[in-house]
Amino acid sequence: MAVTPGYPLTTLFPPFERWCEEVLHPYDTQPWNFRTQAFYDEYRVKYAIARLIRPNRILEVGVRFGYSARSFLFAAPKASYVGIDFDEPSFGSYDGIPRLWAEQRLKFCYPDNTIQTFKLDTQKDSLPVAGLFDLVHVDADHSYAGALHDLQMFWPLCGNTMVVDDYVEVASSVVTFLEKHLNEAVVLKLDSLRGSALLIRTKSVGEHGLKPTKPRA
Ligand SMILES: C[S@@+](CC[C@H](N)C(=O)[O-])C[C@H]1O[C@@H](n2cnc3c(N)ncnc32)[C@H](O)[C@@H]1O
Repeated sequence: MAVTPGYPLTTLFPPFERWCEEVLHPYDTQPWNFRTQAFYDEYRVKYAIARLIRPNRILEVGVRFGYSARSFLFAAPKASYVGIDFDEPSFGSYDGIPRLWAEQRLKFCYPDNTIQTFKLDTQKDSLPVAGLFDLVHVDADHSYAGALHDLQMFWPLCGNTMVVDDYVEVASSVVTFLEKHLNEAVVLKLDSLRGSALLIRTKSVGEHGLKPTKPRA
């Protein structure tokens, strides 16, 4: 199906067939096949989260082909987006760089938005971003130490909600993180296919000495 630039400027999530066709990369079939109702529902949960948060600024750690990014922007089509990834190979038959494909698609679909992606390793490199993001999505290294590192690194940039993907794998990192940040967040656990934890700031960012973002009009 031909897609015109700016087409998804609606706050609706597409039906299953259209989502497969327009959002998924055609060569992205290994190691996971995303063309299933279960994965579709997983990405609809991401969409629903963004519908609730209504973010102006989104930061994602772990972009890959940008499927979560698309879910968030379906819900918040005017939001700016920054994605970070160290460009692990896609494992499927696509020999390009998934992050760059994602960036191209996002810029095509949302020509008026600020869309940026950066190649960097969160465990080695310094961050090229500043300020607060209303929605921070953490979905990169799922090892205990790697996930804990990313939670600690990106929590100070979170002005509202941090969504931690693959909670089924990273639950112990989230628990350790929360032991240190007990009074700063309430936690919601969503039981989707891979599970998500939502860490919602309980104190306004001003109380942390950070500058809040301007609320949506
Ligand atoms: C599960 S995928 C992200 C999927 C994406 N959020 C989505 O919903 O489609 C994880 C990504 O994290 C990246 N990654 C893993 N460890 C990283 C690190 N230390 N720094 C930056 N990116 C990393 C990998 O290259 C991979 O593309």
